[in-house]
Amino acid sequence: MNTLAGKHLVLGLSGGIACYKAAELCRALVKAGASVQVVMTEAAEHFMTAVTMQALSGRTVYTSQWDAREANNMAHINLSREADAIVVAPASADFMAKLLHGRADDLLSLMCLARPLDSVLLIVAPAMNREMWANPATQRNVAQLRADGVHVLDVGQGDQACGETGDGRMLEAEEILDDLQAFFTPKTLLGKHVLVTAGPTYEAIDPVRGITNLSSGKMGFAIARAAHQAGAQVSLVAGPVSLPTPRGVRRIGVRSAHEMMQAVQAQVDSVDVFVACAAVADWRPATSAEHKIKKDGSGQTPELSFVENPDILATVAQSARAQSGALFCVGFAAESHDLLAHATAKRARKQVPLLVGNIGPSTFGQDDNALLLVDAQGATELPRASKQDLADDLIAEIARRL
Ligand code: CTP
Repeated sequence: MNTLAGKHLVLGLSGGIACYKAAELCRALVKAGASVQVVMTEAAEHFMTAVTMQALSGRTVYTSQWDAREANNMAHINLSREADAIVVAPASADFMAKLLHGRADDLLSLMCLARPLDSVLLIVAPAMNREMWANPATQRNVAQLRADGVHVLDVGQGDQACGETGDGRMLEAEEILDDLQAFFTPKTLLGKHVLVTAGPTYEAIDPVRGITNLSSGKMGFAIARAAHQAGAQVSLVAGPVSLPTPRGVRRIGVRSAHEMMQAVQAQVDSVDVFVACAAVADWRPATSAEHKIKKDGSGQTPELSFVENPDILATVAQSARAQSGALFCVGFAAESHDLLAHATAKRARKQVPLLVGNIGPSTFGQDDNALLLVDAQGATELPRASKQDLADDLIAEIARRL
């Protein structure tokens, strides 16, 4: 679900080095299907040209409240009435101070003040030096803006253009895009805590070798992101994959099935939904050698024997909370053939209300997938789509069943 498609946004730039990120944000918003009207303050024009923003947004840029292009000469009214949200990125310390006091001496601040409070969201992405950000005046302004109903996004942390290091960088365009998607996502899981397992597990043979599988973790990460966007508090127990953690999601990194089991058990008593998406190794080597197993030149291969790993999903699904319905469990089935029959049998065996079947070889590592949802009523197909779209649909299905 791309919640930005069809939305109309005013992208406001105030003065700051981070204006370069606004160019990328504009491009990403247009790519996501939003229409973007750029408005720049005079200070912003020192950092970025209106030409660049016009080219990226496909619309002429507004910079002045005296713009004669508007027949009634009221750009601040006309532009703010059409918008679903005004996004000020970057929002300088000065611009936020201005917003706080309701000052309106340039087009952008005028528009923010003139916007209809109940239909046009105001979202600001602060960008400044770390000392400016930490200053009590700025922190007081941020707190008051939030109290006034302005959505002040977090700041990033790291190297700053001034050479210092700390809090105050503007979020990256992709992070702002993510937060904007979340603003427009219906909060179907508000107040719920969702626990997701994702990725493969790795079972060590010795310190440098092990057995694992081809799961990329993409589906589980997409589910965690979708649940967070739907308003849930999300914990993600992830096997060894290098995917970035979705914004706002708490990630607990694990390696083996055993560690995954422990991490799940430490959380599961306080969650409302458990989605077991991980491709957990069914077996692990019976012993893991302390040192690397060396070839001795004789051509003899090591004898490996295996023991079965705990079944995390089945254990959780058989708990009293799951059996009473207080915990909603969702399982996955990665099959190679006869999906409906295997998924139906697996749902019964694992005792879960909802089981999501997919064909392992055609999904592992891919960005898209096709799902078969199996519950007590029967089976529903979710046709091939991006994993993120499928994850959004799955979260909507889960929310409907809670
Ligand atoms: N699962 C789990 N712990 C395990 C094995 C599987 O939690 N030790 C979970 C998976 O996360 C998935 C579901 O159980 O949600 C089914 O996993 P799958 O690998 O498809 O099935 P298995 O139970 O391993 O059965 P089989 O290998 O016979 O198909």
